Amino acid sequence: MTARFITFEGGEGGGKSTQVALLTEAFAHAGLGVMKTREPGGSAGAEAIRGLLVNGAVDAWDPVAETLLFYAARMDHVTRLIRPALEAGQFVICDRFTDSTVVYQGVGKKLGEGYVQSLQRLTLGSFMPDLTIILDMDPAEGLRRADRRGEGENRFESMDVDFHHAVRAGFLRLAKDEPARCVVVDAAQPIDAVRGAILAAVNERLGLALS
Ligand code: TMP
Repeated sequence: MTARFITFEGGEGGGKSTQVALLTEAFAHAGLGVMKTREPGGSAGAEAIRGLLVNGAVDAWDPVAETLLFYAARMDHVTRLIRPALEAGQFVICDRFTDSTVVYQGVGKKLGEGYVQSLQRLTLGSFMPDLTIILDMDPAEGLRRADRRGEGENRFESMDVDFHHAVRAGFLRLAKDEPARCVVVDAAQPIDAVRGAILAAVNERLGLALS
């Protein structure tokens, strides 16, 4: 299948949803079929699971139970929304995917990256994004930005700053381990500069000419 599945990853407050929207617009502007979606969520079942995961007390869930809920949501999302869209020839742009579980639960919550990657293989098999954009930012600044946004859903934002530093390091390590799939973009730049860096990466990696 042609490379059409793009994911955005990174810590809190890095401007992922803004950049997902801007990249989706760029695809639409070029006349290419595109679907924008997010995790946890996307499908009806996965959106219901999202409510359980992103609200409530920081320690509301046992970390393994939490991880299984992320993969339950992801399976529903992949089988009902993402795969059908890709098979219909659309580009799919997803705000977070399996790397978030490897990093937030595997590294941040210390379950181990290998443990989460084995669940990843059990559920997704070899199905992985073609391109992953990692929006990187100092966690202290990211949390300040996320706090200003103040829209609730802050169960993970409420984890201590060490957790968020571990998450940042986890994403950077992943990018180093998988350079063919992952691109790190400095999210502290102005929005337009971030957009430009993302477009350049997408054009180069997927052979497109988006503007
Ligand atoms: P969002 O703020 O990007 O919408 O994501 C919701 C929160 O869920 C965010 O704090 C990161 C967290 N999360 C995980 O911990 N593991 C995952 O697998 C995913 C997809 C999100």
